[in-house]
Amino acid sequence: MDLKEKIRNVQDFPKPGIGFKDITTLLKDKDAFKEMVDIMADNLKDLDVDVIVGPEARGFLTGAPVAYAVGAGFVPIRKPGKLPAETESYEYELEYGTDKIEIHKDAIEKGQKVAIIDDLLATGGTMEAAVKLIEKLGGEVVSIQFLIELEFLNGREKFDGYNVESIIKY
Ligand code: PRP
Repeated sequence: MDLKEKIRNVQDFPKPGIGFKDITTLLKDKDAFKEMVDIMADNLKDLDVDVIVGPEARGFLTGAPVAYAVGAGFVPIRKPGKLPAETESYEYELEYGTDKIEIHKDAIEKGQKVAIIDDLLATGGTMEAAVKLIEKLGGEVVSIQFLIELEFLNGREKFDGYNVESIIKY
């Protein structure tokens, strides 16, 4: 199946000039959703992953089903102020201003093998912050997977030496 055909491009959302890649049209299609999960799970098959981390919110939709499929745990990375227990946080630069994400301090044990899954690689800022948080907790990032990669933004350059995969490329 051509999963790219299941992505809806919404022009001028959320701002004029942006072509938003809407994954809801893929997720609601039972065959496409299964294929997405199967491909990501297959990419992890020899890596012995303990935990899959997914950044809010679309990293939950892509990462949690893969965690179930491979028999790994799932850990959310959230926007500030959402996680109730003690957190580690990381602030990163945007084009204008900064953003911050958080993880529970006890979410990952030292030496655990971690895969990070998100729907989209754009600038790579979110994923780079996620890698930093996981490594700060002592996790080993053995795989980074995206449903969609916007290749023209060169986000992949931030992950030299990591095992990065994406299913759909623009
Ligand atoms: C989107 C997307 C990625 C991130 C990619 O999330 O789901 O997490 O941006 O962009 P980057 O590579 O430039 O960091 P968003 O912040 O829109 O949050 P959402 O999933 O809650 O909508």
